[in-house]
Amino acid sequence: MKEIQVHDKKFRILVPSEKIQAGIAEVAGKINRELAGQKPLFICVLNGAFIFASDLLKKISIDCEISFIKLASYHGTTSSGEVKTLIGLDENVKNRTIVILEDIVDTGLTIETIVKQLSVYEPKGIKIATLLLKPDAYKKDIPIDYAALKVPNDFIVGFGLDYDGLGRNLEDIYVLSSPS
Ligand code: IMP
Ligand code: MG
Repeated sequence: MKEIQVHDKKFRILVPSEKIQAGIAEVAGKINRELAGQKPLFICVLNGAFIFASDLLKKISIDCEISFIKLASYHGTTSSGEVKTLIGLDENVKNRTIVILEDIVDTGLTIETIVKQLSVYEPKGIKIATLLLKPDAYKKDIPIDYAALKVPNDFIVGFGLDYDGLGRNLEDIYVLSSPS
C-alpha cells in the first residue's frame, strides 16, 4: 500500500482520482438537470474547494456564473472568542440561485456560518455542493444537497484539502494511516 508523508504524519490512499472524478460527474449531472434555467451562481469557498470547483464547473453545461469567497477569522467578543466573517463576495446575490462549493462538510459549523451570512443578501435559494461529506460528524439540520463522496470520520488530505498547508496539490484523496 502506497504511503505518503505530509509533515510528521503518514497517509494512505482512500479515494483514487478516477473515483473522485466519477463522484464529481454525478453531482454535475444532477445540477445540470435540477438547476437548468436558473442560471445559478456558484460560490467557491477558498482555499480548499478550488480543485473541486474547477473540475465540477468543466462538467456544468447550463448557463452559470462563479465567484469566490473566503472565511476570515478574527477575535470577536462572543463567548467562543472567535468569529468568522465572509469576505470577497462582490456579486449581487439577491434573487439568485446560489450553489455553495465546499471541500468538506465535517461538523457543519462552517457551512452553517456561510449559509447564515449569505441569507442576509436574500438569495432565491441556497444549495450546497461538497466534494466530501463526513456523515458521522455532521451535526446540523441544513440539507447537504450534493455530496460527491462520503468519507469516514478521519483526517483527510489531498484534492484541495490540506494538513497544515501541505497536500492540497495531491490528485488522490488520502487518509491518516494510523491515527496517533
Ligand atoms: P466543519 O466546520 O467542522 O464542517 O469543517 C469544515 C472545514 O474544516 C473544512 O472546510 C476544512 O477546511 C476543515 N476540515 C474538516 N475536516 C477536514 C479534514 O479531514 N481534512 C482537512 N480539513 C478538514
Ligand atoms: Mg475549507
